[in-house]
Amino acid sequence: MTERSISDPDLATRVAAIGFGATGQNGSMVSIDLILGDITTVAADAIVNAADNQMRGGGGVDGAIHRAGGSTILADCVSKFPNGLATGDAGWTTAGNLPAKWVIHTVGPNYSAGETDRGLLVSCYRRALEVADELGARSIAFPLISAGVYGWPKHDAALAAVETIASTSTSVDSVKLVAFDERTLHAFEAGLSHRTPLRLLQGVRVLHDRGYHAARVFPGMSASGMYWRVSISPATTSAGGQDGHVTPPASDQAIRYSTSSLREVASGTVDITTSPEDVADLLARELPTLLASRAEDPPYVEWYSGLLQLVERHDALPVAYADYFDDEPGWEVGWGSGIRYPHPPAPNA
Ligand code: APR
Repeated sequence: MTERSISDPDLATRVAAIGFGATGQNGSMVSIDLILGDITTVAADAIVNAADNQMRGGGGVDGAIHRAGGSTILADCVSKFPNGLATGDAGWTTAGNLPAKWVIHTVGPNYSAGETDRGLLVSCYRRALEVADELGARSIAFPLISAGVYGWPKHDAALAAVETIASTSTSVDSVKLVAFDERTLHAFEAGLSHRTPLRLLQGVRVLHDRGYHAARVFPGMSASGMYWRVSISPATTSAGGQDGHVTPPASDQAIRYSTSSLREVASGTVDITTSPEDVADLLARELPTLLASRAEDPPYVEWYSGLLQLVERHDALPVAYADYFDDEPGWEVGWGSGIRYPHPPAPNA
């Protein structure tokens, strides 16, 4: 994506007027960063320990925290949690010699022992954030709870982590997800980018709501079928023509995203904590020509709104088809799902 100077002063005003919000639609101020390393070295206000019900130390991250933090942590566990801690609950102790101020211990479900209630895993993150709020902590570091000795599948453990953190109202503004190895790092990355395609589609709807009806999407699958892709561009007569022969826009006039890029969108990032408003700001910044026209196009905006409702209802991504290789008319919501949606109306000439 070549850097685009905003030559048109009026356009520059419009882009500037949009502003590039730092807070999202849900008001969440939380920012999530990934770290590959040892959580005992992270200088967050609080670090989270994946403990067991007895709260007397153990292996994995539990062992690392007790070793690095020293005996005062165990002493605090014994005095504050004489009966240990229930699965899904959280409680705090001193951090001893660690750079953090507190350790927030939580007990994840033991998947290997048949504890597969995902609500208990979600509760660990929610309760840890509640305890952080009680402490007045503004930064917190999490390991991937239950994904080690307790055997929870890493990708789902990471999805539970990021979706719970992104949807929990908290005074914490900085969350660090600490991966001890590359596989855990990739699981966190995949979890964070899980909603990136949907956020991009929702960002285009925000542009329409702001009066920029020329914003168009052209979604499809990679040749391997492994990755979903989308081009976002200003309307041209070729993309989404009435005759159904849809062709992607010229590359220099489009923002192109593939799920292989995870959270990277043009020169920015879009992850589960990015609101559709912030996505619209990013799209406008990366492709100011999206704002070049204020021409109204109600038929397209209505068509697009209907498409997005299907996408959100089925939690499935749209794939544009051209009639010449697909005898079914229209686009598909969910590749191979058979859920069809009509071709987009031709752009206003
Ligand atoms: N820093 C960051 N992450 C770590 C560290 C560390 N120093 N050590 C391990 N991890 C990671 C693991 O790679 C895994 O991704 O923490 C995640 C959770 O793994 P475990 O520590 O094994 O915790 P869990 O799967 O929840 O099992 C808890 O294991 O250690 C015992 O006493 C603990 O019985 C409890 C059980």
